[in-house]
Amino acid sequence: MIKLTVTDREGEAHEIEAEEGLTLMEAIRDNGFDQLLALCGGCCSCATCHVHIDPAFAGRLSEMSEDEDDLLDSSDHRDATSRLSCQISLSTAHDGLKVRIAKED
Ligand code: FES
Repeated sequence: MIKLTVTDREGEAHEIEAEEGLTLMEAIRDNGFDQLLALCGGCCSCATCHVHIDPAFAGRLSEMSEDEDDLLDSSDHRDATSRLSCQISLSTAHDGLKVRIAKED
């Protein structure tokens, strides 16, 4: 299991565990965070799974696709730590990852 720390929009940090192979979006959603809407179910077409990743883990993430980059541009809250959580497949390299759910657009 991979341990993750998820900070919600109220700033409260929650420790969760996820199985390898899930996407970060699935891990957050399946642990009951209703702030992460993930409306398109992970097809990279809604941007409601927007999260901010602790910069310490930036080097362990898969590269951002052009589609993800374009979609993130539609968010007013995009910054250098932004990713769409449905585009990140979890592996043991992500153990200890800290992530914050982005503000709603
Ligand atoms: S769930 Fe829609 S883009 Fe990630």
